[in-house]
Amino acid sequence: MRRSEFILPEGIYLDGNSLGPISHFTRACMEKRLQEWQDHAVKGWEDWFTLPERLSPTLAALVGAKPEEVITTGTITQNLHSLLGTFYRPTGAKKHIVATSLDFPTDLYALKSWADRHDAELRLAPSRDGYTIEEEDLENLLTDDVALVLLPVVLYASGQLLDIARLTQKAHEKGIVVGVDAAHSIGSVPHQLHDQQVDFAVWCTYKYLNAGPGAPGGLFVHEKHFDVMPGLPGWWGNDKHTAFEMKPFYRKGHGAAAYQTGTLSPIALAGVEGGLKPFAELGIEAIRERSLQLTEHFMHLIDEHLPEVEIVTPRAQARRGGHVSIRHPDAQLLSLALRDRGIIPDFRVPDLVRMAPVALYNTPEELENTVQVLRELLESKAYLEYANKKTQVV
Ligand SMILES: Cc1ncc(COP(=O)(O)O)c(C=O)c1O
Repeated sequence: MRRSEFILPEGIYLDGNSLGPISHFTRACMEKRLQEWQDHAVKGWEDWFTLPERLSPTLAALVGAKPEEVITTGTITQNLHSLLGTFYRPTGAKKHIVATSLDFPTDLYALKSWADRHDAELRLAPSRDGYTIEEEDLENLLTDDVALVLLPVVLYASGQLLDIARLTQKAHEKGIVVGVDAAHSIGSVPHQLHDQQVDFAVWCTYKYLNAGPGAPGGLFVHEKHFDVMPGLPGWWGNDKHTAFEMKPFYRKGHGAAAYQTGTLSPIALAGVEGGLKPFAELGIEAIRERSLQLTEHFMHLIDEHLPEVEIVTPRAQARRGGHVSIRHPDAQLLSLALRDRGIIPDFRVPDLVRMAPVALYNTPEELENTVQVLRELLESKAYLEYANKKTQVV
């Protein structure tokens, strides 16, 4: 769709769901901010101070929110702590937290720490197959003594897309606050966070939004909560018109902007500015359509040519996100062998090779070539040579 706008590493890049590549435009945005720093030094803040708010209209369209319901700030982990510090309000017996056993660990670390503070349990929905979660199993945990549930939109390992509308409704019927982690769905799948009445959400921008390693993440707070005081306030979340009055008390900014905490790098924010451009131009619906075509094609090729592997990503369009995960006992070795041959997937424990055919820059031919190389590897068993070359980060 926009391949020529990206500066892709050599070979076939299938890891954009881990770290999206840089585009020419993003590079130019970052260079512009560097130049401003060089030319204006501290005076640069006159423009940079409100940059996060100015990104909100495009961001809002990606998650189905109003612009004032979203803000670019923090990391997922930090934002999650901040939102739990605000919306996790255990009262009496209604104090437990629910998540899934397949959530990304940082979410579970944050949730557990808040549950521990309140002598509450973190209850995890089990997985029947080790890769996916049945909505029914999550629903069974949404009991009267639960105060908050955190839902992943797309599971980071298998790529399963959960039914957020259904789960949010069920949780709200029991008076349970609903938070959402959209790390693996933002920029790949459309969301309806406002209409579905989700209470809060978090995401990062370094995956499908291509904002760069460690770029600031983002969060959503439903407007029904705009009168709530942030649990972890900071001066960037103070009303920006009055921030430099330096008053000793916090005057809450409007909407999600109130959840900013401290100073953000305009250079890092430039990555978000640049990354959002193709999304503003194409719209998330068209991007999702192309993503579905690519993943469909990829799964079809895998089925046809790679009988030794099992696709653990659900097949139904409504149940899968933007990446495809295949299972093989030597997944880590296959992943290393692919990387050595110029194809970049990643490995996720214990036995998954995870590959994202990204709508903005991957092509059907790249998927065909990837399957061909995998076929050769499985046939020759050349991947076994990598047994003593395992690394920590793949
Ligand atoms: C679902 C999910 N949550 C959280 C994170 C990481 O959070 P942070 O941005 O705080 O590093 C990731 C990173 O891949 C993720 O996939």
